[in-house]
Amino acid sequence: MSPAKGTGTERDNVSKRLFTVGPVEVMEDVRQVMARPMITHRCKEYRQLHEGIVEKMRKVLDTDMDILLVGGSASVFLEACIRNGVSRKNLGASNGSFGNRWQEISALNGKDVKKIQVPWGEPIRAQDLDGQVGSDIEAVTVVSNESSTGVLNPLPEIVDSVRSQGDALLFVDAVTSATAVDLELRRLDLDAVVFGSQKALSLPPGLAFLACSERLLEKAKTVQNRGFYTDILELKKKNDENYALTTPPVSLMYGLDYQLDRIMAEGTAARYRRHEEMAKLLEDWAAKRDGIYPLEGFRSRTIAVINKGSMPYDQFSAGLKAKGFEVSNGYGKIKDSTFRVGCMGDLTVKDIKDLIQAMDTTLEELK
Ligand SMILES: Cc1ncc(COP(=O)(O)O)c(C=O)c1O
Repeated sequence: MSPAKGTGTERDNVSKRLFTVGPVEVMEDVRQVMARPMITHRCKEYRQLHEGIVEKMRKVLDTDMDILLVGGSASVFLEACIRNGVSRKNLGASNGSFGNRWQEISALNGKDVKKIQVPWGEPIRAQDLDGQVGSDIEAVTVVSNESSTGVLNPLPEIVDSVRSQGDALLFVDAVTSATAVDLELRRLDLDAVVFGSQKALSLPPGLAFLACSERLLEKAKTVQNRGFYTDILELKKKNDENYALTTPPVSLMYGLDYQLDRIMAEGTAARYRRHEEMAKLLEDWAAKRDGIYPLEGFRSRTIAVINKGSMPYDQFSAGLKAKGFEVSNGYGKIKDSTFRVGCMGDLTVKDIKDLIQAMDTTLEELK
């Protein structure tokens, strides 16, 4: 799909670029594509769009898993994993707010949750899970990139530990890593990978994705009360006909189709490298000041969680906004001591260098 000729003005009355943790910056050409005329979701054109998206997403993620999509934020599929994959009990491994969130979702859905808590800023390691996944555990939930702490958890060793202990399903929240980091889906053979449109895909919020395994679909057949919107068996049935279960956000799907082409044109290897480079620049910047929060060796490539030290953050953030740059405050229990810079999606190394210059100037001004 090539961009439609549109009348969109540069950035309308929005004057800041987003270096946030999601929603993130959406490029002008993507916004124009999304302004195309509407089609209904029961027509031939829709089926072609849907089919193309699923095929391209499989290529981008390098997987043969089923790709399900619904209108909603990523949380709808975090909940669906629990409602379809757990009858009684699961294990929730956490090292931050979003790991805790998934534990909470299990509990709110009436499941018994065995909680593993790893200190914030540290990764979840194999030894944290060894001996913990008994035969009563139907699934293990883990966050790939913990957006509150900026820790990129080492999925391969987590997967090895869980698989060596039995048949528990493995669910991964890849909300802030999918399409920015190589998730090695072919090798890791996960059961669920959840993400949304507003992060590394550089689209507006509103589309949620689930890559799911045959094992999860089989398990779902045995689980009661899967709900309506969250029933992956119904979603899969429709998906196989290139239809959506309910009215899909077609405009967003135009944008997604376009972004998947953009990702394939860049190449995933180059894209992963670009994210690493952007994250490294921010890490080096932080190292010259109060440092970066997560442990070395396990740092996110999409979100830099930077220590504030004695910086007057509100003034710093206002100074950046005045220059046209928006960053995010800290999250959860480290909200007051850290701030977060998103470096994902369509942002470039040059964009990050520009931001760094603006951060330096702003800090100088605050002296
Ligand atoms: C790691 C992680 N998981 C889950 C979520 C929740 O995603 P959503 O708001 O799309 O439901 C977020 C949102 O920032 C996140 O960063």
